Amino acid sequence: MNVPLADPRLLGRQVKRIAISEEEIQERVRELGQAITDSYPDGELLVLGLLKGSFIFVSDLVRSVMRPLQVDFLVVSSYGSDVVSSGLVRLVYDPETTLEGKHILLVEDIVDSGRTLSRVIDVLQERQPKSIEVCALLDKHVSTFLPHPPKFVGFNAPNEFLVGYGLDHAENFRHLPYVASLQ
Ligand code: IMP
Ligand code: MG
Repeated sequence: MNVPLADPRLLGRQVKRIAISEEEIQERVRELGQAITDSYPDGELLVLGLLKGSFIFVSDLVRSVMRPLQVDFLVVSSYGSDVVSSGLVRLVYDPETTLEGKHILLVEDIVDSGRTLSRVIDVLQERQPKSIEVCALLDKHVSTFLPHPPKFVGFNAPNEFLVGYGLDHAENFRHLPYVASLQ
């Protein structure tokens, strides 16, 4: 959508276009919730959101999953610039909930190189969960090989810098209900 944006949330900041509308996101999130509901017939499910980018996605998604589950978050700090991920990660907040014997669904805002996820999954595997799968709102499909490709993907993302619905640029734009591409 190349409409000029008259959104007061932007106030003087430029975005190029809306890449994914609020309506498209809401519909897709409901579909993902249904797919997740269908693929976990039994066992304990722990939804682990990677902060901060996944906070809106997680809160919408879990309300569409029609089975018992627990929600917790991980805070991962990656070194280097905020635009290009370096692949070195550090757990800054660890979930208080035990992972052992549970199905873990890691929720990520966007998969770019996939390095953040790979490192996090390596760390979490040591805690003997029953399974680990990934649900990503967006996938840039930059990597040709990912050790843990996301099982659930909302949208294929254009190879542009995206903001909104949790995604930021220098901590701005996270509260937009749509995904926009930056100028
Ligand atoms: P990866 O480790 O290269 O897959 O990078 C994933 C992380 O980089 C995401 O969790 C985001 O925090 C950030 N990221 C990658 N692409 C974008 C983007 O287009 N907009 C905002 N953040 C992004
Ligand atoms: Mg980020």
